[in-house]
Amino acid sequence: MLADIIENWKIYCDESNFVGIGSTRKVHRIADYVVKIHVHPIGYKQSKRELEVYNVMMQKGLANFLAQTYYVDESISVQKYYQPIEMIENQSFEIDMKKNLSIIPKRYEEVLDLLDKDFDCFDLKDSSNYGLDEKGKIILIDYGMSKDLYKNQWVPLAEAGILPQIEYDLCINCGVKKELRMYGDNDDEKRCYECGKG
Ligand SMILES: Nc1ncnc2c1ncn2[C@@H]1O[C@H](COP(=O)(O)OP(=O)(O)OP(=O)(O)O)[C@@H](O)[C@H]1O
Ligand SMILES: [Mg+2]
Ligand SMILES: [Zn+2]
Repeated sequence: MLADIIENWKIYCDESNFVGIGSTRKVHRIADYVVKIHVHPIGYKQSKRELEVYNVMMQKGLANFLAQTYYVDESISVQKYYQPIEMIENQSFEIDMKKNLSIIPKRYEEVLDLLDKDFDCFDLKDSSNYGLDEKGKIILIDYGMSKDLYKNQWVPLAEAGILPQIEYDLCINCGVKKELRMYGDNDDEKRCYECGKG
């Protein structure tokens, strides 16, 4: 299965199995896997780092809430698929140890602390970076961005309008208040991804 996906992902990934898009990677589901297509070189850097972090944490026996990462090359990464976390009023939210206790996995704080300090991982609290496993516990699906990569490479590209920044507002097409992808300060096209803005 995995070898088949790696060889034929271009044939398999289409509109029908699209599951999500971030600023640097576009994601499709194939059976119990996702293919994350790198739409910018920073996406490749994030994917490489995810594989590295996953392998190290696996060896330490601490990968229990990291999305399993199987394979990375310049074009794609292959991970295990996890159910999405529902947004609240079309917006992601900050994971709270106390408020969200029922979905918090074992050793959450300890592992999060390690990801923060040893791996310099960025944005470990936002619900949009998590999925849910079979037991309904949160799984980190987006852990390859470091604070250094964010500050020194991602932010300048977002400010230049090359990578999108997320803004919460009304889509002029469907009228739903949701997360919009905005490119630089002069972008005033408030249309959502689903309504055709890439
Ligand atoms: N393992 C997974 N299982 C299910 N869905 C996933 C998985 N990985 C990613 N997704 C979906 O694809 C979207 C984009 O993936 P991801 O956040 O990794 O990309 P990104 O470009 O790094 O995003 P960001 O702009 O947040 O840095 C996610 O918000 C999520 O909806
Ligand atoms: Mg993300
Ligand atoms: Zn819309």
